[in-house]
Amino acid sequence: MKNKVYIETYGCQMNLADSEIVGSILNKAGYAITRDIDEADFILINTCAIRDNAEQRIRKRLRELRALQRARSTLKIGILGCMAERLQKQLMEEEDNVSFIVGPDAYRNLPQMLARTREGERLAETLLSETETYADIEPVRYDTNGITAYISIMRGCQNYCAYCVVPYTRGRERSRDPQTIVDEARSLFEKGYREVTLLGQNVNSYRWEAENGKLEAESGERKAESEADAASSNISHLTSHITVGFPDLMAMVAEVSPLLRVRFATSHPKDLSDELLQVMARYDNICKCIHLPVQSGSERMLKLMNRRYTPEWYLDRIDAIRRYLPTCSITTDVIAGFCTETEEDHQATLEMFRRVRYDYAYMFKFSMRPNTYAAKHLQDDVPDDVKTRRLEEIIALQGEIALENNQKEIGKTFEVLIEGVSHRSDQQLFGRNSQNKVIVFERGDLKPGQYAHVKVTRCTSATLIGEVVDNK
Ligand code: 5AD
Ligand code: SF4
Repeated sequence: MKNKVYIETYGCQMNLADSEIVGSILNKAGYAITRDIDEADFILINTCAIRDNAEQRIRKRLRELRALQRARSTLKIGILGCMAERLQKQLMEEEDNVSFIVGPDAYRNLPQMLARTREGERLAETLLSETETYADIEPVRYDTNGITAYISIMRGCQNYCAYCVVPYTRGRERSRDPQTIVDEARSLFEKGYREVTLLGQNVNSYRWEAENGKLEAESGERKAESEADAASSNISHLTSHITVGFPDLMAMVAEVSPLLRVRFATSHPKDLSDELLQVMARYDNICKCIHLPVQSGSERMLKLMNRRYTPEWYLDRIDAIRRYLPTCSITTDVIAGFCTETEEDHQATLEMFRRVRYDYAYMFKFSMRPNTYAAKHLQDDVPDDVKTRRLEEIIALQGEIALENNQKEIGKTFEVLIEGVSHRSDQQLFGRNSQNKVIVFERGDLKPGQYAHVKVTRCTSATLIGEVVDNK
């Protein structure tokens, strides 16, 4: 009987994608992935370290799992991901029911580690890599709707925003071979998937230096260029290079099929190029939705956060998006109460929200993370009740804006990719439009995986409600 592994994932989309890579590595080594925790021989918890409350949640979960371990003495628990990387052996000392700790770049060692923990060893592998992209591993989509999937295109981050732990937990930035990305997208499409989201901490800095002729999926224009290069070089052993940037990669994936939607996350405002916006405008199947984390609307705060853009620069990027992509939705991340934030800084953030009118925002209270620039050089001096109040003000404002934005969609018809049956009623389906807004409608004879044209008739601040106008 195969050993069974249960994987539990916390944190961002990147972690979800990583868990699918872990699933694949373990599958190949003869382990079975189970979705039933009660039959697991190993429980792997893929963790997040971005804010203190993310870590507290995992600690609590570890306490809950003790009961399971008491009932099954052979059950082993391992910690993966960002918290594993951040705390390393400390975690093993503090949590005596944990058998292994594995950082985000060490997943290839898992089969060997699992085998050793069976012998009673306790192990930690947290070496970060400058090259690991798991490019050759086809993720196992063990928890999927069969329609939408994530594809990791790069790993790591070296922007060093003052508040952020990610450069310390995920290491240096590196891009994955574009051919493997296109192949993965094509393989998903052939299996019936209709949407892929390309993932990286800062996708706009995706960059791959390819040897001449190595890229099969390159666009015609590029091929002509590289052939001309080759022809002009008489010395055959001198290979010229072409560079694949993020706009090129988006075009390559969009070319897989007009029926395959392409999304991406996340963009750093300092690197969002007009070229990308032009590529987005060129392909109908590239979704018109950009996640552009602002973090703060105050110039002083942005500087202290080491974001390397000003509010003016950010607003210029918003103007560019609206110019090239008039129907594009814009979403963001924001932090309330970063070190030294004043009432005036906070007002600047509210003003930014009023100017941009985001369709959706992820809103957070600042949480000081050990090792970051902020932890070393700044004071966490905004009292918690002030952080909470400021966060609540942002949430209230954003709620109003989202509702007003949604009300403007009433009467419009969108192409919707159907993802599943609505949670409220099995007579209703839900899907998303290109702008990533959820739309609910009567099911008729439609099925998940199909596209439908839906006219919006009502809305809440979170959901559009509509009716099918054209069943194609
Ligand atoms: N405290 C609060 N929010 C944070 N984020 C990153 N680090 C912190 C922190 N220390 C937020 C940022 C980022 C999102 C993924 O999490 O807004 O864009
Ligand atoms: Fe994702 Fe960052 Fe959390 Fe790591 S710390 S799981 S990269 S959000």
